[in-house]
Amino acid sequence: MWNSPKVGILGGGQLGRMLVESANRLNIQANVLDVDNSPAKQISSHDGHVTGSFKEPEAVRKLAETCDVITAEIEHVDTYALEEVASKVRVEPSWQAIRTIQNKFNQKEHLRKYGIPMAEHRELVNNTPEELAQIGEQLGYPMMLKSKTMAYDGRGNFRVNSKEDIPEALEALKDRPLYSEKWAYFKMELAVMVIKTKDDVLSYPTVETVQEDSICKLVYAPARNVSDAINQQAQALARKAVAAFEGKGAFGVEMFLLEDNSLMLCELASRIHNSGHWTIEGCALSQFDSHIRAILDLPIPPKSLELLQPSIMLNIIGGATPDSHLKATQAALSIPNASIHLYSKGAAKPGRKMGHVTVTGATMHEAETLIQPLVDVVDTMRA
Ligand code: ADP
Ligand code: NA
Ligand code: MG
Repeated sequence: MWNSPKVGILGGGQLGRMLVESANRLNIQANVLDVDNSPAKQISSHDGHVTGSFKEPEAVRKLAETCDVITAEIEHVDTYALEEVASKVRVEPSWQAIRTIQNKFNQKEHLRKYGIPMAEHRELVNNTPEELAQIGEQLGYPMMLKSKTMAYDGRGNFRVNSKEDIPEALEALKDRPLYSEKWAYFKMELAVMVIKTKDDVLSYPTVETVQEDSICKLVYAPARNVSDAINQQAQALARKAVAAFEGKGAFGVEMFLLEDNSLMLCELASRIHNSGHWTIEGCALSQFDSHIRAILDLPIPPKSLELLQPSIMLNIIGGATPDSHLKATQAALSIPNASIHLYSKGAAKPGRKMGHVTVTGATMHEAETLIQPLVDVVDTMRA
């Protein structure tokens, strides 16, 4: 069909693993850079993988020699190494996009120039209590203190309820580059997966995300009780935000739906995203299929990104005991229309994403009814 392009993936966690699943079905070799036996490598037997870290320039150079295009399952990669290898191999999305996006403050400064609505925020320069107290007076309380870098699953955020919380907040995020954000009084969190191709910016339907302890717990596709107009507006906002960056592939866009039905961007990711896992069962082309096609300039019929059936995704997260996730999986085996995805990450730790389950239904109500017993099991296993 084509001249067997090889894809190099920075990172071999669950996102890389699901990318490999998509690449495998098209006979595309995916060379993974990560430790040996990482989840993505376990399902891909060939000698093109590279052992090492996406933060080591030498390992990135080595991966570049094995493939035609490099992509990443994570934004916390060495973008200077990517910049260097970009003269020899295609890097998608661009290293510039990844570099800007991996620093959330820079990401938001960049998006501001494109008129993307966001919570007001202020940069901290010295990380002193006096400085944060001054910002608190400007933004009001509560406010969210955030790390600019290396933030995920809420590990990088601290809710500052009042001036009294300032010492604790600065201690919790010490030695990290910080900014603080005005509190967003949202009624719902929405997300949209965007696919940037060589000449298009496409989007999947708008979903509703529910976080617990700042970790994504449930995703409802489509978002419940959200009008078609808001669904379309959220997709348009997500596409506009992603269009502000160079390069091809999947981008995950998180948004807040405010009380007055206006939308605000929360953050975006330059990669396939947890809020898009439902697309494996819910659409003809999953976010992983689309990402592989986008970076290789293969056709993506826009119709293939439409919702086939209402879908709910539940994350299986490490809980109170090392086998909590196994008990949840056991329960999922008996649920009709439930597709189970385990990531083979080894030992569970509280808060670690071990797998997910997607339940589909003819209606959202049917999917909700089917998944409820599993949600109940997961709730009893919280750490
Ligand atoms: P990350 O997902 O990388 O940890 P986010 O910026 O997405 O960081 O924040 C995680 C969660 O914290 C969001 O999904 C939302 O629930 C909450 N949150 C983030 N920013 C704000 C804010 N400004 N106001 C209220 N809640 C927020
Ligand atoms: Na994130
Ligand atoms: Mg987030």
